Amino acid sequence: MATISTLAYLVAAVLFILALRGLSHPTSSRQGNVFGMVGMAIAILATLFRPGMDATGIVLILAGLAIGGSVGAVVANRIQMTALPQLVAAFHSLVGMAAVFVAAAAFYSPQSFGIGTHGDIHTQSLVEMSLGLAIGAITFSGSVIAFAKLDGRMSGAPILFKGQHMLNAALGVLLLVLIVSFVASGSPVLFWLIAILSFALGFLLIIPIGGADMPVVVSMLNSYSGWAAAGIGFTIGNLLLIVTGALVGASGAILSYIMCKGMNRSIINVLLGGFGTDTSAAGAAAGAGGDRGPVKAGSPEDAAFIMKNAAKVIVVPGYGMAVAQAQQVLREMGDLLKKEGAQVEYAIHPVAGRMPGHMNVLLAEANVPYEDVKELEEINPEFAEADVAYVIGANDVTNPAAKTDKASPIYGMPILDVERAKTVFFVKRGMSSGYAGVDNELFFRPNTMMLFGDAKKVTQEIVQALQK
Ligand code: TAP
Repeated sequence: MATISTLAYLVAAVLFILALRGLSHPTSSRQGNVFGMVGMAIAILATLFRPGMDATGIVLILAGLAIGGSVGAVVANRIQMTALPQLVAAFHSLVGMAAVFVAAAAFYSPQSFGIGTHGDIHTQSLVEMSLGLAIGAITFSGSVIAFAKLDGRMSGAPILFKGQHMLNAALGVLLLVLIVSFVASGSPVLFWLIAILSFALGFLLIIPIGGADMPVVVSMLNSYSGWAAAGIGFTIGNLLLIVTGALVGASGAILSYIMCKGMNRSIINVLLGGFGTDTSAAGAAAGAGGDRGPVKAGSPEDAAFIMKNAAKVIVVPGYGMAVAQAQQVLREMGDLLKKEGAQVEYAIHPVAGRMPGHMNVLLAEANVPYEDVKELEEINPEFAEADVAYVIGANDVTNPAAKTDKASPIYGMPILDVERAKTVFFVKRGMSSGYAGVDNELFFRPNTMMLFGDAKKVTQEIVQALQK
């Protein structure tokens, strides 16, 4: 039985690896999800039939599955696509808290985990337990702050104060000292001091991080939650949880690195929280718009006329397209333009929207052909040959301040060079800024025409005008 259980765990681990591989491309992502679901089903069954599992264990697991599964199903059904990042952050907080609970359970009832007796826990287990506790507590409080910032329950602006990095560094060193002392003594007081300090550190590490860096933080917390799960795996002696946790931890860290490269951020700076930004920078940049004169606003009919005569149209979707759920009508517009003989492509910025792959998912849902969807590096040289850039609900990802304004919170982030197209349409409801709170000077350029209104409504009206 033990061999079958280990073999089943091995199969599940391989399926999880295949799931990650599948999820790396839109064409194979559905298959990746199926691999993940089958792997998880095998893992649960293998755990239920593990040697040594008694009736109480089975009932508890099934009860946990029923409660957690029902809550998860209801939340997943209700959640808006645009609110997924905060949901992910909220879920990470639960993984972190689970790690704290498991560490406490193992500390107070070591015999149930086979790691020694009360007051005499194996040294190796004390190391695993304290690391799981610290990472879990940091993940919990960090994720709660990320959730509050992403959900608009607290300001997304960085919260900075003097000596912040010194304080974080000092607390980090103190945490290490506490862990070493705890491993040497097994003291309950030190156990809870590690927990309190880690909760505080998670909070302090995330408050200075501003909106523009939030995607990296969510992915980093994803990585932490994986390491916390691996820590639980060590504590309860479950090989599959160690492997799965390590897979989540490693893939989250790799994704964070890729996103940092995409936004031209140093991962160290993001992790240190607001390093390199000063308190005045964000505010100064947000108000840097000044009086730039009038903007040119057009009607959907004007836009339809110009696009009907265009040879090449590049669509740039952003967060506003997701809010308006305009992807379906956008594809209809693209199809009509193709019928008119235009080449239509879709430009994807790595952090457009509010989560990695946000735009890809929405465009795939609307059956936009994969070959028409281009990543930033590939599409940027093409804007110069485009007659029209149709920017629908995107803002920060087109903002040249990222190249020119050193005080801007988005400085250094690569952007889509929409202004190089002959005509740039910006579809948005008003003149408000995007997520990073920075004004966009492109709205005032002579080759820009603003199309004010809800993204879906404006695009629908363009479709109607194109059909006339
Ligand atoms: P944003 O810069 O946030 O701009 C979106 C624009 O959409 C807003 O200026 C808004 O202007 C407009 N809008 C909102 N609802 C609309 C509607 N119903 N119809 C038409 N327009 C609407 O979006 P972006 O260019 O996609 O950039 C993403 C930003 O989010 C970046 O700063 C990025 O760092 C950050 N972020 C990204 C992620 C990931 S992983 N993708 C996660 C968290 C944060 P109006 O109000 O005037 O309409």
